[in-house]
Amino acid sequence: MTDNAKLIVDGKERSFGIVQGTKGERAIDLAGLREGGGLLTLDEGLGNTASCLSRITYINGEKGVLLYRGYPIEELAGKSSFVETAYLLIHGELPTRSELSVFSNRLNDSSLIHEDMRHFFVAFPKYAHPMGILATMVASLSTFYPVPDHLDPEAEEQFMANLISQVRTIAAFSYKKSIGEPTVYPSIKLRYVENFLNMMFSSPVKDYRQDPDIVRAVELFLILHADHEQNCSTSTVRLVGSSMANIYSVISAGISALWGPRHGGANQEVIQMLEHILATGTDPKTFIDRAKSRNARERLMGFGHRVYKSFDPRARILKQAYHQLLKKLKTADPLFEIAMQIEELALKDAYFIERNLYPNVDFYSGLILKAVGIPADMFTVLFAIGRVPGWLAHWREMVHAKEFRIARPRQIYIGPSERHYEPINSRGLKKCP
Ligand code: CMC
Repeated sequence: MTDNAKLIVDGKERSFGIVQGTKGERAIDLAGLREGGGLLTLDEGLGNTASCLSRITYINGEKGVLLYRGYPIEELAGKSSFVETAYLLIHGELPTRSELSVFSNRLNDSSLIHEDMRHFFVAFPKYAHPMGILATMVASLSTFYPVPDHLDPEAEEQFMANLISQVRTIAAFSYKKSIGEPTVYPSIKLRYVENFLNMMFSSPVKDYRQDPDIVRAVELFLILHADHEQNCSTSTVRLVGSSMANIYSVISAGISALWGPRHGGANQEVIQMLEHILATGTDPKTFIDRAKSRNARERLMGFGHRVYKSFDPRARILKQAYHQLLKKLKTADPLFEIAMQIEELALKDAYFIERNLYPNVDFYSGLILKAVGIPADMFTVLFAIGRVPGWLAHWREMVHAKEFRIARPRQIYIGPSERHYEPINSRGLKKCP
């Protein structure tokens, strides 16, 4: 606390501490407001609420800045690997060579799922969305790998490694299920991303040839999605984790929150939107005009962000990487042309300008995944694989915090006042005058 804010509550002056963050953000600590006055704070959608203190990720939405543990996302995207970034997010520092090797080996050693779990895949319908499978399978990991109430540091490391590694295996198995091919086991000889691509695309009758440009594109995608402070799924992870639920249930809850089209599900919706425009020959301008109507389902997917009020830095990096990838793969995609037209039109349109709506990470991420051969219904699954280290970092930060309490927001009740039970026969009967 560095300062105080004075509030006049019911005619009485009260003083509340102001908390200041490393980069100058300030918040009034109103935790004690209810005591001695009965007042709550109301902030629907939590747009103005800092729900915790955190050392993990910093965003400046006005300037388009994103730092993981202080490191600019542009530097990590250009120089780091996903596994190294995961270590950084969880442990707070970049690893030494030997720390990275221990961490990497642990991930590799933890990549199998219990063999009996493979039977579960058979039971899902063929058309099952892989996000539904992922959430279910991650929750069921807790039945095969029971989590003790108190985790010592070694057990905590192991459960986190299990999650980072097994989520990737489950993701690939669910894809194989959807195309009717046998599952491919993870290999101790392959690194994190290569392993995933091999499990996705090799089969008993076809080897998968690793292309370093494709590996790098997926690596970049995962790094850019690894954390984003208190978004909907991370807040879900903290909320569910605050009840001391087991870590698998916590991450499964995060996956479910991520699936929604306003959050991670937007990456699949962007491609569907672009494909729809292409297939129907809709003029992008007409599409944008429709997106300006108040019909929520018609929003321009991949645009807008609660925190970024200028360009999302992740979208900028992905757009550039996508350009380079198309050149290297010597290919083109008509969806990219449509995406560029939409971006150009929207950025000049008063509606989008007034509301500070810019392309977000999901606008270009689907295009890059499409270019490397990932099917659209796996896009949000890849987002989840990328976000697991961020969720774990937040869970770990919370459970080790000194002032860790169950998250339990309040509400303002606006329903009927107290009334009394009427027997069913007399309900709805008009009272005689
Ligand atoms: N298209 C058209 N209008 C929009 C859009 C959009 N994509 N996004 C926001 N608006 C309008 C909205 O209708 C509202 O207008 P008005 O002031 O006239 O009522 C205004 O902009 C503010 O919108 P909001 O819903 O209050 O903003 P929010 O901060 O609650 O929502 C958002 C942020 C990301 C949910 C929203 O911008 C959106 O639905 N975008 C499309 C879905 C999407 O791309 N989601 C991915 C987000 S980034 C990755 C991630 O976090 O997963």
